[in-house]
Amino acid sequence: MKDLSPNPADLEPIETASIDEIRGLQLDRLKWSVRHAYDNVPMYKERFDAAGVHPDDLKELKDLAKFPFTYKNDLRDNYPFGLFAVPRSEIIRLHASSGTTGKPTVVGYTKNDIDMWADMLARSLRASGLRKGDMVHNAYGYGLFTGGLGAHYGIERLGATVVPMSGGQTEKQVGLIQDFQPDGIMVTPSYMLNILEQFHKQGIDPRDSSLKVGVFGAEPWTDAMRQEIQAAFDMHAVDIYGLSEILGPGVANECVETKDGLHIWEDHFYPEIINPETGEVCEDGEMGELVFTTLTKEGLPMIRYRTRDLTRLLPGTARSMRRMEKITGRSDDMIILRGVNVFPTQIEEQVLATGGLANHFQIELYKSGRMDAMKVFVESLPGMADGASKAAAERMLSKRIKDIVGISTDIEVRDPGDVERSQGKAKRVVDNRSKE
Ligand code: DLL
Repeated sequence: MKDLSPNPADLEPIETASIDEIRGLQLDRLKWSVRHAYDNVPMYKERFDAAGVHPDDLKELKDLAKFPFTYKNDLRDNYPFGLFAVPRSEIIRLHASSGTTGKPTVVGYTKNDIDMWADMLARSLRASGLRKGDMVHNAYGYGLFTGGLGAHYGIERLGATVVPMSGGQTEKQVGLIQDFQPDGIMVTPSYMLNILEQFHKQGIDPRDSSLKVGVFGAEPWTDAMRQEIQAAFDMHAVDIYGLSEILGPGVANECVETKDGLHIWEDHFYPEIINPETGEVCEDGEMGELVFTTLTKEGLPMIRYRTRDLTRLLPGTARSMRRMEKITGRSDDMIILRGVNVFPTQIEEQVLATGGLANHFQIELYKSGRMDAMKVFVESLPGMADGASKAAAERMLSKRIKDIVGISTDIEVRDPGDVERSQGKAKRVVDNRSKE
């Protein structure tokens, strides 16, 4: 793989500033943001008043812990624009997430917000090893999802050429990559596997493609999957994180030279890790739920937003700002099977560690009598035709999951192409427990 370490002269001064400087900037901005929310969003005023806190109580960063949390449901309850802190006429862009139940959640951006977003995405791409003059194939979905347009503006801001491909049409994705010769690709990791398969179908060695780096996010993925993608394409695979309520993609990003977790762009987003049960703030290094407060957002300021993502905060390395460890899962995705907590990423690790299996899998939860049970559908790699080797892989994967994750599962190895393919965010879990 090519060395893509950025030129230190290209970094913004704040990326290598001292911790004191960063904390000072955060405190100034936090005071502004909390007051902006209180003065302009009725929900925040009511909540702060009810909790007996006022923006004037914020004298140090740790005073933030006195303020109440904000939840995804607050966006639904104030649907569509009730949490906006500026008149609707100052909002120049809306995005929305469909969600699985109820109303979508709607987010809005002022012109300054869109500008800041493009800056953070450009900073993320630079950290990923891309630079001015490169070409980036953008296969995140365009539309209400923040992935496509968020990445698009950032690629342009970096001074690179954007190929606004969006998701789907996998054959065409490969054709354009072959014809245009992009340096980078932005796409969900599960859809990248789909693209990989299409390279093989067309008889093209992906290692011969022009791609030097992939910037993957929007869903959890493991280091094992990173190794697989890097080996298959002979390119770097780096992690990008974000969520619509806080920004979209570009809240945190790995550095290509270290790949040791995602640096949070702390000059705009203040992270906390809390114990999800008690709401207490955890020390850096402790695992818990990630909570974000926006420091500069005008349209939709978010104070102590509960992301449901589980990770821990680590000190800076390649940049001064703190890192978050690669996300293992969301509390919503956690499966509790007979008392054992399981995340789909733990199954992914075992699938990749078992020989002969492709990383296309889906988990089904169902009732077996009165007990919850789990079945994993996974695909064999091409070439594993006979039933005996499939049965051996089923036994091996079942044993690994039992020994390492600690649960009994039923495994079904299917032929290549027989497990549902991701077109964006993979649907890893199908819950049929309420069905007879
Ligand atoms: O997924 C924004 C995004 C687009 C990020 C493209 C990166 C690339 P939402 O649809 O609001 O926004 O979903 C946000 O996706 O709370 C996490 O649970 C999950 N997620 C996002 N990035 C990662 C990642 C976009 N790198 C939710 N690793 C978040 C693990 C991620 N989970």
